[in-house]
Amino acid sequence: MESAISLIKQNHLGLSLASLSIRELLFVKAAPGNIYALENGNYKIVLKKKAVINKTVLKELLANSQYYLFMDSLTREQLKKTHQDNLRMATRSLSVGDLTENALYAANLLTINMGYLYERPIDDELLKLQHQCAQNLANFLLEIPELHHDIYQQYIKQKHHFVFAQPFLSSLFVLGALKQSHFFTDKDVEALFVTSYFKDIGMSSIPTDKYDQEELDEQEKKLLAQHAKHSVSILKNRLALTPAHLTIIENHHFFSLMTQGLDLDSVSKDVVFGAETMIISVMDIISAMITGRPFRNANTLFEALELVKIIMSDQYPQEFKLVVSYFRNFFFNKR
Ligand SMILES: [Fe+2]
Repeated sequence: MESAISLIKQNHLGLSLASLSIRELLFVKAAPGNIYALENGNYKIVLKKKAVINKTVLKELLANSQYYLFMDSLTREQLKKTHQDNLRMATRSLSVGDLTENALYAANLLTINMGYLYERPIDDELLKLQHQCAQNLANFLLEIPELHHDIYQQYIKQKHHFVFAQPFLSSLFVLGALKQSHFFTDKDVEALFVTSYFKDIGMSSIPTDKYDQEELDEQEKKLLAQHAKHSVSILKNRLALTPAHLTIIENHHFFSLMTQGLDLDSVSKDVVFGAETMIISVMDIISAMITGRPFRNANTLFEALELVKIIMSDQYPQEFKLVVSYFRNFFFNKR
């Protein structure tokens, strides 16, 4: 009898629970509801409502491989709302108090909210919030290049899922290098930060946990190959991006396609690939290479620059010099 009741309870839980990433519990001081994990096919409470959440608790959950958590779906909606409100507040008051901490907090919340946008890329409110807050953060980052290295180091310690961390990391490098070049106005750099930040939103057509596998299946590979086009479809007429910025998004893998020796016939060669596309593309490659993935270790900066040299040095020698000098300053002069 007991097992029958338990089965009914389990089924009911299965219907009312929503999955929750452990990273959504960052910056949450107490569990907003019971938090469950699956154990031998059954839901088991791992944190009771109002239980204190801190680094130790999160580490224990990670140590027990409880990456996949569950929470009552209504409570998760409230948690989302809290993260969204906090993001809005954080990006409105970036200049008050500790600047590194403020930028880091905003970047972390932006990343958590990127996860929500991937769940519902067609949600206008989510996209608008993400866009406004990314813009605010970009403006702030433009004022504090000397703090970028600290922000980068502390941000990667949070170990966000790489799919959601990559847009911020690559765009931070884009912003820093373009600012250092003095060729662009701050307004131009801000627009290119946003372009870089949203260029991979089309990757949301594949469930995030699939990216943890070393190999995607054939259908997923096709979707991934088309993600730049999907990004444009998602963003067109919804974000204030010019056609030129959308073209950069559409072609942001042109250079990495070349390095993989893939057939380029499907890529329109009529498009003029400007230096902006090149910078956004190589910063994407470098930031991905120097951070690890579940299925591979991180490469060194030197290895990443060696690859980028092959792609850039013939056609874009000036830009290649800029990239090298930017990273020299970033990692060795701590700027
Ligand atoms: Fe991409």
